[in-house]
Amino acid sequence: MSSAPGAGEGPGGRLAGRLVALGVTGSIAAYKAVELLRLLTAEGADVAVLVSPSATRFVGPLTFAALSRHPVESDLLELLPDGRIGHIVVADSADAVVVAPATAHWLGAMANGLAGDVVTATCLATSAPVVVAPAMDGDMWSHPATRANVARLRDAFRYSIVEPDAGPLASGQSGIGRLADLPRIVDAVVAVVAGRPVRAPDPADRPPAGATVPREADFVGRHVVVTAGGTREPIDPVRFIGNRSSGRMGVALAEAALDRGASVTLIAADVSVPLPEDRAAVVRVETTEELRTALRRVLFGDESSGVGRFDALVMAAAVADFTPLAPAPTKLERSSGTTLALVPTPDLLAEVSTHIGAAPPSRRRPVLVGFAAETGDLRRAEAKLTRKGVDLLVANDVAAPGSGFGADTNRVVILDAGGGRSELPLLSKRAVADEILDRVARALDVRDLAAQTGATRQERSVEATPR
Ligand code: CTP
Repeated sequence: MSSAPGAGEGPGGRLAGRLVALGVTGSIAAYKAVELLRLLTAEGADVAVLVSPSATRFVGPLTFAALSRHPVESDLLELLPDGRIGHIVVADSADAVVVAPATAHWLGAMANGLAGDVVTATCLATSAPVVVAPAMDGDMWSHPATRANVARLRDAFRYSIVEPDAGPLASGQSGIGRLADLPRIVDAVVAVVAGRPVRAPDPADRPPAGATVPREADFVGRHVVVTAGGTREPIDPVRFIGNRSSGRMGVALAEAALDRGASVTLIAADVSVPLPEDRAAVVRVETTEELRTALRRVLFGDESSGVGRFDALVMAAAVADFTPLAPAPTKLERSSGTTLALVPTPDLLAEVSTHIGAAPPSRRRPVLVGFAAETGDLRRAEAKLTRKGVDLLVANDVAAPGSGFGADTNRVVILDAGGGRSELPLLSKRAVADEILDRVARALDVRDLAAQTGATRQERSVEATPR
């Protein structure tokens, strides 16, 4: 499994702090605009997408909304929730507009100032530089009408044209008309903004962030790592120290994240429920030491700092607190009796948190979620939040009716690093999972916005208050 696209690229890219408007029109190459969006984001850009009506027949606006974390402009007459005219906000705040792919029809409309869709209207309304990357059939590209339209855009409007490439076309023929290689388009955007000040550094002047992505897609493009189940510490080859965790909460979290579009790595210790093996990358572990190794591999790979390879870690596993100092290599005999010497296990969550804290600040910091299984008093959970350096701590009283190990329901209190606290009613573990992920999604939105606009870390607090 690959890490989340765009994740981990910090605000230090060539488009750091910039807002780029990506106009997509109805060519078969529209699907490539999704990858272009990722590349622009990876360069540090905040991207707002505009689609022509025919573009939506190739790629659903939800994909663009989920990846850009902005509403997608598709309707000239649609207003933003705050009453502003969406495409005008984009036109007034974008540092560059890039139209890719641009169809022959769109070139003709633009050359004649026919603002019949949000892409042409935004180009007409903006003073930002415009980059145009046409894509069409070879004969259409060489037609005098298209040549004249392109010449007008280039010479009269001073648009930067990224000429299409030669190669096989959707028609089955070969010729010039393929959308240019995406890095060429990104380079053209970098070139047109070079030396210009950022037009709208204040996020309030930009299109609103996040608000429009529904739960079904708010984790698209994000990599979530979940641990589940209870670790087992060997006493001898046949016996172990275990715990009562069923893995239900962790599996519910993995399934909820998958349903919301995340790519999920599920590190499963001992569980008594089926795992979503067909949809998640599942890593099986038994001991705390194996869990530690798996976490390091998944989170950090072979690099010294893999921060950015994942967007969130939800540590729902019940990790053994003690492990036998010296597991017996052969089965212990009952008749000889024994006293077990136990040593504390390393705090894996605290280790991950420390590792992340040491990463360069330009990296997008993942969101860390810990659990605290308590019996009775939840006050210890507050201390754990700080001690483990997590953004959210989900505390539950495992002794309370309907809560805890093996139950299908859970009653939890979610604490956040900003001092917020929400006490949830008794809910199914799936509903608890979605409540937790609502807060993780919100934290990631805030994180990404901060990275795109260069806000400081203090401004990025994670609140327990749901959206
Ligand atoms: N955890 C961990 N490594 C450990 C023990 C726990 O990463 N060795 C994680 C758990 O997965 C959970 C959180 O830390 O997300 C809290 O676990 P809990 O057992 O409640 O806390 P402990 O640190 O073990 O504290 P104590 O047992 O003293 O309550």
